[in-house]
Amino acid sequence: MRIPMIVGNWKMNKTAATVAKFMDGIRDNLPDSRMIETAICAPALFLERMVAHTADMPLEIGAENCYFEDSGAFTGETSPMALSQAGVDFVILGHSERRKIFRETDEMVNLKVQAVFRNHMRPIICCDETMGQRENNDTVHWVVAQVIEALKGVSEEDARTAIIAYEPSWAIGVGTPATPDQIEEGCYLIRQTVADVYDDTIADEVRVLYGGSVKPANINEIMQKVDVDGVLVGNASLEAQSFLELISNDP
Ligand code: G3H
Repeated sequence: MRIPMIVGNWKMNKTAATVAKFMDGIRDNLPDSRMIETAICAPALFLERMVAHTADMPLEIGAENCYFEDSGAFTGETSPMALSQAGVDFVILGHSERRKIFRETDEMVNLKVQAVFRNHMRPIICCDETMGQRENNDTVHWVVAQVIEALKGVSEEDARTAIIAYEPSWAIGVGTPATPDQIEEGCYLIRQTVADVYDDTIADEVRVLYGGSVKPANINEIMQKVDVDGVLVGNASLEAQSFLELISNDP
């Protein structure tokens, strides 16, 4: 059985003061015995402190990106080895904002996926889709290609622990998510692609998330879809109260 997963992605929001406020807000309010995995992915600057702060809490901590080399002359980049040693559990890779604004290619995403596994963390691999691709019936081709490229060279043992997110860029940050049927279609497609690359057993284990305008008011409907194992949430994960509402909705 796949454990449901709710992941916040803070993007380039928060300061030390608002991180502390969030942590205070959730400290005594996180459910501790639920069969649900919860995580916050935060800017690299805050990660070490957040890992220390959450050591006794049922909340995992992730990064939003990393480089694919462990160390060297790569000014301004974040080392996956350093993230791992800091106690980081996950790294979001290939988010549509990184693909679009920072021109990350499938090849770079794949190298980063390998670097994250090499350093004993788990990647949350994002696959996007634009409205233009949807309108041109190019979704299948586009999403399948991103999954195949991201998992190139990844062993079966690692692949089964991967988390893959379907994040149509037209639904991100706009307030209205894709419809439940569109979400199921995208998540099913990802799982089928994993089955084609590996096998049905691995596809059954891989967790597939949806991201794009998820909030407390719509999470239940989305989580009920059979191939949706969880959600990757931007705006609605920024405030403690809203995050708590997200994770207290019974999937
Ligand atoms: O990674 C999260 C997604 O970009 C969704 O962001 O919930 O603000 O639409 P959003």
